[in-house]
Amino acid sequence: MRHHATLVFVLAATSLKAQAATNFTSLVNLFIGTASGANGGSGGNGFPGAAIPHAMVKVGIDVDTAPRQAGYISDNSSITGISLMHDEDLSREAAYLLIGRLVKSKRLEPFFSYGTDNYTAHACYDFNSPASQNNQSIVTSGTFQSNPSSSTSITILPSNNASLSFPFSSSPASTQAGALISFNSPVVLARFGVSFISPAQACSNAEEEVSDWDWNKVQGASASKWEDVLSRVMVDAPKEDPNVVELLYSSLYRASLVPANLTGENPYWESPYPFYDAFFCSWDVFRTVHPLLSITSPFEWAEIVSAYVDGWRHTGYIPECRANTKNGYVQGGSDGMPILGDFAQKYAKDAETLAVSMGDLYQALVDTATNTPPDWYRVGRQNTAWTMFNYIPTAWVDPSGATGLPTREASRTLEYAVNDFAVRQAAITLNKSVEDIYTFGNRSMGFVNVWDPNVTSDGFTGFAQRRFANGTFAFSPPDACSPIDPVGHSCARGTDNNVGFYESSSWEYSFFVPHSMATIIRLMGGNDTFIQRVDHYFFKGYFLAGNEPSFAIPWAYHYVSRPDLSALRVRNVTFTNFNTGIGGIPGNDDSGAMAALLAFHLLGLYPTPFSSQILVGSPMVSSYTIRNQLRGTRTKVTVEGFDRSSLVAKPRNGSRVFVKNITVNGHQNPSLCWLAFEDLIGGGEIVIQVDGDASAAAARGCGGNEPMSLEA
Ligand SMILES: *[C@@H]1O[C@H](CO)[C@@H](O)[C@H](O)[C@H]1NC(C)=O
Ligand SMILES: *[C@@H]1O[C@H](CO)[C@@H](O)[C@H](O)[C@H]1NC(C)=O
Ligand SMILES: *[C@@H]1O[C@H](CO)[C@@H](O)[C@H](O)[C@H]1NC(C)=O
Ligand SMILES: *[C@@H]1O[C@H](CO)[C@@H](O)[C@H](O)[C@H]1NC(C)=O
Ligand SMILES: *[C@@H]1O[C@H](CO)[C@@H](O)[C@H](O)[C@H]1NC(C)=O
Ligand SMILES: *[C@@H]1O[C@H](CO)[C@@H](O)[C@H](O)[C@H]1NC(C)=O
Ligand SMILES: *[C@@H]1O[C@H](CO)[C@@H](O)[C@H](O)[C@H]1NC(C)=O
Ligand SMILES: *[C@@H]1O[C@H](CO)[C@@H](O)[C@H](O)[C@H]1NC(C)=O
Ligand SMILES: *[C@@H]1O[C@H](CO)[C@@H](O)[C@H](O)[C@H]1NC(C)=O
Ligand SMILES: *[C@@H]1O[C@H](CO)[C@@H](O)[C@H](O)[C@H]1NC(C)=O
Ligand SMILES: *[C@@H]1O[C@H](CO)[C@@H](O)[C@H](O)[C@H]1NC(C)=O
Ligand SMILES: *[C@@H]1O[C@H](CO)[C@@H](O)[C@H](O)[C@H]1NC(C)=O
Repeated sequence: MRHHATLVFVLAATSLKAQAATNFTSLVNLFIGTASGANGGSGGNGFPGAAIPHAMVKVGIDVDTAPRQAGYISDNSSITGISLMHDEDLSREAAYLLIGRLVKSKRLEPFFSYGTDNYTAHACYDFNSPASQNNQSIVTSGTFQSNPSSSTSITILPSNNASLSFPFSSSPASTQAGALISFNSPVVLARFGVSFISPAQACSNAEEEVSDWDWNKVQGASASKWEDVLSRVMVDAPKEDPNVVELLYSSLYRASLVPANLTGENPYWESPYPFYDAFFCSWDVFRTVHPLLSITSPFEWAEIVSAYVDGWRHTGYIPECRANTKNGYVQGGSDGMPILGDFAQKYAKDAETLAVSMGDLYQALVDTATNTPPDWYRVGRQNTAWTMFNYIPTAWVDPSGATGLPTREASRTLEYAVNDFAVRQAAITLNKSVEDIYTFGNRSMGFVNVWDPNVTSDGFTGFAQRRFANGTFAFSPPDACSPIDPVGHSCARGTDNNVGFYESSSWEYSFFVPHSMATIIRLMGGNDTFIQRVDHYFFKGYFLAGNEPSFAIPWAYHYVSRPDLSALRVRNVTFTNFNTGIGGIPGNDDSGAMAALLAFHLLGLYPTPFSSQILVGSPMVSSYTIRNQLRGTRTKVTVEGFDRSSLVAKPRNGSRVFVKNITVNGHQNPSLCWLAFEDLIGGGEIVIQVDGDASAAAARGCGGNEPMSLEA
């Protein structure tokens, strides 16, 4: 089944919310994260429309609230139309449709493409249902196109032309276009198809995928696809906390909407490999979305990874931030690298079955880690600077002539280091040369080069900072760009970012060394100081739940052998920031990044990308079963002593929230802090025993085996 067409019923005032709970699909609440953002900012940007997993077509109702990046906002505002393509973070309309009674002359939002490139999309709308039970007929119809600078002009065509084929080229902020159609009936059956190739392909996609206009068949097939995806993590719903269950399945749903499967819709090259788009951005999704796919969806993940590799095959670089088949902007590092490195770690031995060329994958990693594109703001990295200094110097003029946005020097250094660690990991798994393993491993330690041991903030010493080419540090306050920054700094991608960190503070980014936490702990002054520093980071308000660099920090205590503190912190973060209301996501869902994060928190897991370990904590359901279709396995995770009263932001003393023992198929796990990835998907039973004795838990720690860390 392809993903380029859909059949929708359009009913005035129909709720899209799933009906009575009888299966996993019906446990999904589509409206979580559809509130409008405060102060014109970003709400959850959840997309509540109709879609199948990784669909190209995501049909949804759009309203006139601004901003409304995923089209719909749950604020009772007016409906402006229906559009066919939405991704979590942005509304990407292929064309609007104003239906029946809603016909009125309304201005529509301009097309919004992330980046400066224009794209062309084609849509095909078909109201010509042969089904005799559907007595709709078009009364009037027409298409319109207008510029924001001029008044909207609408031409209503008098003919009864039921097949409108309306191609157009959009630009970031000019053309507004749509179709206005009125019907003799309040219930309308319509078939839509889209294509990035041609209007004819948009129509043939619709004709092939929805050949017989059978609503029940299309709806049933879509529901089965979701049931298949959602049942890869099974809980006995009636036995568990209903709030947690709703959060879990709504999260699993949102984490499988993007990227979009555009196989057959690549306007640039012919290829036998899959083509996916809406890698938006790899910076957002490498931390949680891809690791979740690695556990539950190896086949889909392999197609996505293969598409990343094919991007390199045809452009020389691993794609980073794409939407509408165009490059957006690189946020920091090239974060397709950790995705590919993670795949090598987890599935290299299955590469043939999964049809991913590991030779090409490795070359894609090496090229992206080594070469510098002419404009590293759109793809790739500033490797000229990175290989020369092993950090990204500030105020440095690149003699090679390569250009990019030279800001975010400190956070780019930290990210490039993580990227290179992924290459090292792939090199080890794929039996590459000792020289490669050494080179990329060594470079991955370059984060120490932006560590200024002399900077102090709130009594804590040692922070990541920008650094000049001559080695002198360029100071910015560590709280700059934190949620409690007393000064209004510019913290995004702009040339006016003079802090050195991207959308985050030094307070936060100084923890971002997932591959070498042991080094960071040492640089921060040792175990006790590290614990105090993480505590202080939360207490003072430097944590921002909705921002990716903050995702892993509730789990940081694991690295000093204090999983008991992580267990409490993860509950606190979960229950103070997420809920099942329309405002239930603390910021932009970012292509499912936060959905996948929440799923991990609830399952008591946190991924360490590009490693064979996964952090384990205290699950928020009494048991769950992971299904891995590649391995053909079911792995049941059971929490012995599960305590439902611990499902709160601040569990009372004595709540059984601490991991006491872990067994994998009856054998004691080597650690209380991590599981081997292969055990998690390997089938059988994992038993996590929990208790409520806080001091015993503190003394137990990881039980002698901390999570992996590359040491300087
Ligand atoms: C992606 O689309 C292609 C072409 O339609 C299809 O063959 C493939 O099965 C799809 N992948 C998934 C995971 O559905
Ligand atoms: C929308 O309107 C309904 C009915 O008046 C009301 O109950 C609901 O709170 C409103 N929702 C929002 C987000 O304003
Ligand atoms: C996009 O389209 C607009 C309007 O046609 C044009 O001015 C602009 O140069 C185009 N941008 C690119 C990158 O082609
Ligand atoms: C459609 O029209 C036919 C003929 O007018 C009528 O018999 C039938 O009941 C209508 N069907 C529906 C679903 O309205
Ligand atoms: C319907 O409209 C399209 C585009 O406006 C036109 O190409 C086509 O010839 C029309 N078909 C009929 C039957 O009038
Ligand atoms: C699951 O429930 C939904 C809503 O009740 C229903 O539409 C769907 O067909 C069901 N799916 C399966 C596979 O039973
Ligand atoms: C790497 O070498 C090891 C040991 O020789 C072997 O077991 C493994 O299959 C090799 N891996 C790959 C991807 O070639
Ligand atoms: C830190 O401060 C000491 C004392 O002023 C100085 O000697 C040292 O060079 C500084 N280190 C760095 C990395 O700036
Ligand atoms: C290093 O370069 C910066 C920026 O040009 C300058 O302010 C600083 O004084 C230099 N440091 C040394 C030790 O020359
Ligand atoms: C710090 O914690 C680690 C991990 O538990 C442990 O291996 C190490 O011995 C501790 N260091 C000190 C100085 O206590
Ligand atoms: C946890 O959450 C509660 C309620 O949001 C809050 O009052 C408390 O201070 C938080 N922190 C800890 C460490 O429990
Ligand atoms: C953990 O559980 C296993 C299986 O019941 C048992 O053999 C082992 O002794 C337990 N370990 C601890 C530290 O309690």
